[in-house]
Amino acid sequence: MSFREVKPEELSFNPFTRIGSDWMLITAGTEKAFNTMTASWGGAGVFWGKNTVTCYIRPQRYTKEFVDAGERFSLSFFGPGYREALNLCGSVSGRDCDKIARSGLTPFFTDGVPAFEEADLVLICKKLYRAPMKPEQFFSEEGVETFYPKKDFHDLYIAEIEKALLREA
Ligand SMILES: Cc1cc2nc3c(=O)[nH]c(=O)nc-3n(C[C@H](O)[C@H](O)[C@H](O)COP(=O)(O)O)c2cc1C
Repeated sequence: MSFREVKPEELSFNPFTRIGSDWMLITAGTEKAFNTMTASWGGAGVFWGKNTVTCYIRPQRYTKEFVDAGERFSLSFFGPGYREALNLCGSVSGRDCDKIARSGLTPFFTDGVPAFEEADLVLICKKLYRAPMKPEQFFSEEGVETFYPKKDFHDLYIAEIEKALLREA
């Protein structure tokens, strides 16, 4: 496994397909304990003059505990062939089983942040901001009813892309 660090500006990265259709893993924690979960909602852009990502994590996710406990998390993006692993990481909780072992993915650590060797792109992200989605801030009730029947409103995270690692062929 080898990755090459590139500037985020050098990436050809379509967030609509890479996040929305291909999905990503949000991974956080330490070498002692870490967890990962699949996400298909998020974004990439520029805020406060920095290259940033946004992620949205519901309160019941085990991964959220690790994201909240640390300064950084990673986003791992995969080529075709890892759909089953991403489905698994998005359907069972690390609270209930060792899903990382079951997924067959190989964790590695860079700057103390966990990510996966099989990824073709890894973004190491430093948290800048977290905010809860509040029902009273919606412009229409429809969004609340459709996406939050259990009132489990996401937390929004804005994080700076500190490192972009591209897998070498
Ligand atoms: C395709 C897909 C996309 C998902 N996107 C998100 C997301 O953006 N935010 C979120 O909170 N959960 C999302 N989930 C659900 C979590 O991945 C899922 O609940 C996971 O089992 C949580 O694992 P954990 O409890 O080990 O953190 C998604 C699941 C799938 C299958």
